[in-house]
Amino acid sequence: MQRMLSGLVLGLVCLAQKPAGALAQDAAPAQPAKPAEKGVMQQKLESCQKLLEALALNDLPKAADKAQDLIILSQKAEWKVVATPRYKELSNEFRAAAENVVEQAKNKNSDGANLAYIDISMLCFKCHKHMREVRMTRK
Ligand code: HEC
Repeated sequence: MQRMLSGLVLGLVCLAQKPAGALAQDAAPAQPAKPAEKGVMQQKLESCQKLLEALALNDLPKAADKAQDLIILSQKAEWKVVATPRYKELSNEFRAAAENVVEQAKNKNSDGANLAYIDISMLCFKCHKHMREVRMTRK
């Protein structure tokens, strides 16, 4: 059951990302993402999807590579969209989870890498939720 659940989470997570920006734009127009910002966020989605693919196929070197891409993206200036302490904290946790994927993959621990991927995906949800909350209080 636990295994089934993990598989389900793994399968759904990249597909299920409802971008906070898209939601915010429904409610309040006039907040289009800057092109650079959009670039990083789009690349993040792509790297996350490729990371899932690599883990699903147990291609650990490729998984480490994609997790490394996520770390680099999370360090870019365009990543820092809001200056809340929570955003910083979630960014740090995201980076730590990606670092964990790299480490587990290098140790050829696929279970560990899969679990770290679930941490990453939970942080996708948490941060986008935070963004929705930030946007709501700003309206
Ligand atoms: C620390 C915060 C944070 C984390 C973690 C995070 N995101 Fe985002 N994401 C953002 C912000 C900020 C935006 C920009 C939209 C906005 O301002 O609401 C965004 C936008 C997006 C978009 C829309 C991009 C576009 O072109 O409009 C996608 C897709 C996305 N994120 C996917 C993901 C995925 C997949 C993950 C997990 C691998 C993830 N995000 C993790 C903060 C985060």
